Amino acid sequence: MRGAPVLGIESSCDETAAAVLDADGRVLAEALLSQSGHAAYGGVVPEIAARAHLAALPALVERVMREAGLGFADLAGVAATSGPGLIGGLIVGSGFGKGVALAQGLPFVAINHLEAHALTARLPGVVPGGAPFPYLLLLVSGGHCQCVAVEGVGRYQRLGGTIDDAVGEAFDKVAKLLGLGWPGGPALEKLAAGGDAARFALPRPLKGRPGCDFSFSGLKTAVAQIVGRYPAGPLPAQDAADLAASFQAAVAEVLADRAGHAMGMFGAAAATPLLVVAGGVAANAAVRAALQGAADKNGFRFAAPPLRLCSDNAVMVAWAGIERLRLGLTDALDHAPRPRWPLETMRV
Ligand code: KG4
Ligand code: ZN
Repeated sequence: MRGAPVLGIESSCDETAAAVLDADGRVLAEALLSQSGHAAYGGVVPEIAARAHLAALPALVERVMREAGLGFADLAGVAATSGPGLIGGLIVGSGFGKGVALAQGLPFVAINHLEAHALTARLPGVVPGGAPFPYLLLLVSGGHCQCVAVEGVGRYQRLGGTIDDAVGEAFDKVAKLLGLGWPGGPALEKLAAGGDAARFALPRPLKGRPGCDFSFSGLKTAVAQIVGRYPAGPLPAQDAADLAASFQAAVAEVLADRAGHAMGMFGAAAATPLLVVAGGVAANAAVRAALQGAADKNGFRFAAPPLRLCSDNAVMVAWAGIERLRLGLTDALDHAPRPRWPLETMRV
């Protein structure tokens, strides 16, 4: 049914999520469960994640449909994250979506999780006046760190990316070194709020180099070396806060520098150029402020989604589904989930 609502399902990592959006992108209902079973292991355990998705998803979908006041037959289609990510969770979420689509005779849309992050800026209300193509995207999450020219749905040019760790991964590893829980990004940001960012001199990897590649493993190692100078056990509280603040400042400075280079590469591709940040790390206030500064310096507008839409969620998946359905882009029910699925390999 054209113009009808779309159900979105996200299950690529450790968030199980479902959302229903109307055809204009207004959220009718959403539900999200952050899996708790991984904390003891200090990272996501794929098998635990897949089982937890399987246990939680049916009730989540039922709940959003009930809250939206809809039956499955009222939908225009079902969109489910089908990669990149942990294959077990992808099979659960996309398999569930296909099941609903098959039973109801609805179109199925296989969503690239990175495209869902990339198109979040186009949800109504996120960017005043909208985010017309093309725009420059800085995608900063637990698994990805890249600069991408977003030219249209399914049309992406990769300008640069990390040569080692993703930036969220660096936050998580440094948080672990500081004895914080997992995932570490939000805890590290909280700790950094009471710290002195000038206390520890940390490297700014690749700062000033041509291009917009990133590197974070040296920065993480520098933090590990400082931590190693202390006796075993927790660091003194103020030292931990200062180290967190120093690390966060280094990351923010590097991201702003690399984004500055990316803006130069993106150039005059649009009359009023726009820099968009997306992914879990986009929730970090220091990162957002540094990117705002870089955008101002380069004559770009800057947009960051509301915090709840930065980290993984199903609203962005349903929205990517709406964008694709509007273009008549659907996928066959034998579409295979893909653990690796680089944005620039998509074709429309
Ligand atoms: O986009 P996301 O939810 O999942 C992936 O697709 O990877 O991003 C999760 C990542 C984690 O590494 C987490 O530590 C980081 O985003 N993160 C943050 C913050 N909130 C989440 N990093 C720094 N500051 C934050 N406030
Ligand atoms: Zn993500």
